[in-house]
Amino acid sequence: MALNWTYSVMAHETKSSAIREILKITERPDVINFAGGLPAPELFPDRHLLKACTKVLDEYPGKALQYSLTLGVLPLRKTIAERLTQKGCSGLTEENICITSGSQQGLDLTGRVFLDKGSAIICENPTYLGAIQAFSFHNPQYIGVDMDEEGMMVDQVEEKIKKFKPRFIYVVSNFQNPTGRTLSLERRKQLIKLAQEYYIPVIDDNPYGDLRYVGEHLPSLKSLGGELVIELGTCSKIVSPGLRIGWIAATKEMMNMVERMKQGADLHTNTFAQYVLYEYIQAGNLDRHIQLIIDSYSQRRAIMIKALKEYFPENIKWTEPGGGLFLWVELPEGISATALLELAVKQQKVAYVPGKPFYPYEDKDNTLRLNFSNAGHDMIIEGIKRLGKVFKENTA
Ligand SMILES: Cc1ncc(COP(=O)(O)O)c(C=O)c1O
Repeated sequence: MALNWTYSVMAHETKSSAIREILKITERPDVINFAGGLPAPELFPDRHLLKACTKVLDEYPGKALQYSLTLGVLPLRKTIAERLTQKGCSGLTEENICITSGSQQGLDLTGRVFLDKGSAIICENPTYLGAIQAFSFHNPQYIGVDMDEEGMMVDQVEEKIKKFKPRFIYVVSNFQNPTGRTLSLERRKQLIKLAQEYYIPVIDDNPYGDLRYVGEHLPSLKSLGGELVIELGTCSKIVSPGLRIGWIAATKEMMNMVERMKQGADLHTNTFAQYVLYEYIQAGNLDRHIQLIIDSYSQRRAIMIKALKEYFPENIKWTEPGGGLFLWVELPEGISATALLELAVKQQKVAYVPGKPFYPYEDKDNTLRLNFSNAGHDMIIEGIKRLGKVFKENTA
């Protein structure tokens, strides 16, 4: 029955990604999937999480299964503040932390706090697709800044600040999704200088900072910029995305705003999962697990890069990031990565994500993102071999 209800303008205008349909097929077990940003399921720390669950339910079930504070349970917030302090951030306590349902909710809440219709946002071009989806609910104006191997080209930012008066600057400073690029130390300092000069918040969305396989960790934007930087974190890539635990680290004033926005969204993040993560970290498991996944993903990354060198035609370029989960591939100008995805999935049973939806307003379709954390070694080699075949036959 057609009910003829009147839906909101936003419900009509919020688009689902066009590539979703093609990617549905990737759920079939015979498809090699480089598309998602999925961690390796065989590495999930299920035994240690089971121990944490048992402890929580044995020792304080009444608290863990109850409603809790909107900003999150205190011991976990304290632990996150301490971990950020160990990484060089100063002046942070539990009062500066809000636990969110993944960092995706951090994006949604910061969008609600800062954006009105038409507000300008400075971001990398391309940028994280999920951020575009979260912020676009407010119909903002995206001001993209091009990137090179050192990340966002910060020398273009001042002019854009003056012209567009953005509400914030959004960056994924470490091993960016989708390009894998990292903002260099010099540019971090330059960006913070601008934020200080023009008093603009910088939102640093940082799910991949811990996952460095090559070189030394760089100081985080928050450690350099203090209160001017709002850092979004998550346990999705370092423990499990299914737990849906992330956090926002920001000023107390900002926490006040976030708290009000979050009340209307979900009252609070899952209390039980917060305590489970807390007990998991308290038992000393997180740092050991991060090391384990670093060892595993750095091997997968090396295997993918070796296979690309062997099987991809010479007219194709790619990034070789020293961390994170992704490589970024550039096909020759004029070749559509979206069109080739359909061929790759149907003919060769291998999937990737085309770069097009990561550009907030440009129609650039000759790039694509490859994930190297999910597939095993043999599958990575086989998948790149198959993709190489598709690209050789269709990009010459
Ligand atoms: C840059 C970035 N931000 C946020 C997210 C969302 O992650 P979460 O699972 O914490 O919501 C992702 C996930 O891939 C991401 O790459």
